[in-house]
Amino acid sequence: MKLILLGPPGAGKGTQAKFLQEKFHLAHLSTGEMLRALVASGSELGKKAQEIMSNGQLVSDDIMVDMIRDRIKQDDCKNGFILDGFPRTIAQAEALDEMLESEGKRLDHVIEIRVNDEEMVNRVAGRYACDKCGEGYHDQYKQPKVSGVCDVCGSKEFTRRKDDQPETVKRRLESYHAQTAPLLPYYKKSGVLKGVDGMADISDVTQQINSIVSH
Ligand code: AP5
Repeated sequence: MKLILLGPPGAGKGTQAKFLQEKFHLAHLSTGEMLRALVASGSELGKKAQEIMSNGQLVSDDIMVDMIRDRIKQDDCKNGFILDGFPRTIAQAEALDEMLESEGKRLDHVIEIRVNDEEMVNRVAGRYACDKCGEGYHDQYKQPKVSGVCDVCGSKEFTRRKDDQPETVKRRLESYHAQTAPLLPYYKKSGVLKGVDGMADISDVTQQINSIVSH
């Protein structure tokens, strides 16, 4: 199964991708995580990406398309994959179609997680993750069972993303509406687009997605 999760910053793409990855044994391809790894490497390309990301803008299509072209060839993608954060422009979507078509493959589902912009700024600004294992938490919606201790690995160190400051989140939302939302009519035309209510509880959103991908 090959699917895309589409939605603005904070819609819950990463949260839902992790559930799908476990349930259906799919590779989770998050371009945001790939870029953050590139930034952490300290390379020249990573430095350029950091500047763009901290301004809430999009990294160039060429870089992103090459990154995904290499990634989907890897062994763990043979059973299928979930794209989280890619494509983000029409040019990226067209390049993905070409990549899949050249191997006789196609997308099974594009799922739009629908949310309100106002709520997204709060959601993203309240988010943090375990430093050691990356498990995600939220000040309001998902706190560790024992305060200050990661549920998964027991670490007591947590971090917040640099691009999660409210002003940067607003710019990321603007980029979404200007450059990524045009993908909705693009995928509607090809008949693969479905929508879920992303304002519902996390488990409810998971159920909505499961019922789409299980049919
Ligand atoms: P990326 O890392 O992809 O960020 P994003 O798309 O802005 O998405 P987020 O990770 O912020 O949100 P999410 O939808 O995954 O929500 P989450 O599950 O974490 O990209 C970062 C940057 O990299 C971009 O700005 C761009 O610069 C660059 N980039 C990446 N891909 C690119 C590309 N293809 N082209 C060009 N540039 C690219 O949930 C958020 C919080 O809400 C969590 O705390 C979670 O617990 C909570 N939550 C989730 N669901 C619910 C719910 N239903 N109810 C209550 N709380 C919930």
